[in-house]
Amino acid sequence: MEMQEQLSSLLAKAAADLQAVRSRPELEAAKARLVGPNGELTALMKQMGSVPKEQRPALGKLVNEAKARVQELLEAKVGEIGESELSSRLGRPVDSTLPSPDASPGTFHPLTLVREELCSILRKVGFTVADGPEVETEFYCFDALNTPPDHPARDPQDTFYFPTGARFENVSKRRGDERYLLRTHTSSVQVRTMLKGPPPIRIVSPGRVYRRDTTDASHSANFHQIECLYVDRGVTVRDLKALLDHLFAALLGPGTKTRFRPHYFGYTEPSFEVDLSALHLPKVNKEWIEIGGCGMVDPEVFRTVGYDPEVWTGYAFGMGIERLAMTLYGIDDIRLFYQNDLRFLGQFRGAAQGAARGG
Ligand code: DAH
Repeated sequence: MEMQEQLSSLLAKAAADLQAVRSRPELEAAKARLVGPNGELTALMKQMGSVPKEQRPALGKLVNEAKARVQELLEAKVGEIGESELSSRLGRPVDSTLPSPDASPGTFHPLTLVREELCSILRKVGFTVADGPEVETEFYCFDALNTPPDHPARDPQDTFYFPTGARFENVSKRRGDERYLLRTHTSSVQVRTMLKGPPPIRIVSPGRVYRRDTTDASHSANFHQIECLYVDRGVTVRDLKALLDHLFAALLGPGTKTRFRPHYFGYTEPSFEVDLSALHLPKVNKEWIEIGGCGMVDPEVFRTVGYDPEVWTGYAFGMGIERLAMTLYGIDDIRLFYQNDLRFLGQFRGAAQGAARGG
């Protein structure tokens, strides 16, 4: 059947032809060659008139099938070309969920770096991180720490108190008519931790503290401290000194030295101020830098939290994170930490190596 063969060769040729088509004008030309007034399929269809009558139904079916197939091929190609035109207008494919290649990956804040490094060093020697609220009651911030009502630190000139009517659902209830305040030091976490359970205790607690200081190059009304408390049997000043020696050497390098000066804190006896010497650091030009306070936990504090002072001994220390960061990185103005200036913040990429590890 000659016409049948013609049809199948036409279909094969049409498929191959269309395969090569890349653009709309090429498609129009191919379409005209097939189904245009002078097209090959059109010509075959015209031949139907001269086909013997009895063959017409069978051949007619074949011709219709071929026509439908050609239509299908043409439509598929239209779709394909439409898509390629669209994507060439859109340019390279983009995955909008990928992070932007232009955005900076960001850096840790220098205070975060130093805080994490301190916690990481202390974790390695058995301390766990404890947390406490920034809004405190006078009990946790002062009374339980053996700091009497007339102590200068409690003066409203030094401490931010809330109005008497202020209520805080997530801070402990007030005892009597005591006031809520913004904690002036992280030492309040010592009391909270001891009231939670019996010794031994070994905690480190970093966090924000607040004082009514006028801001200048070395003061800020809001700064950060890190507090440590260790309670066990037979703890001595020697343990305290050894830990601080280790901590500062690990943070600032082996050339670092630590010194205690006798001082007074209500919650420790004996009490000391801690100085450190780190002359090997590039911008340090003072032999001794005061960095914090420490001492052996006062028996009165143990009694308040229900620990027997005849059995338990402990040391505590607290210090400013800003001062340490300034020493480590040679920063001369505390205000730089809070201004969010990317030119400043961008300089600490990976600075305290250990901190970025998340230690
Ligand atoms: N809380 C003191 C301050 O803010 C620092 C301090 C001194 C903390 C002695 C202590 C300590 O744990 O035992 O200046």
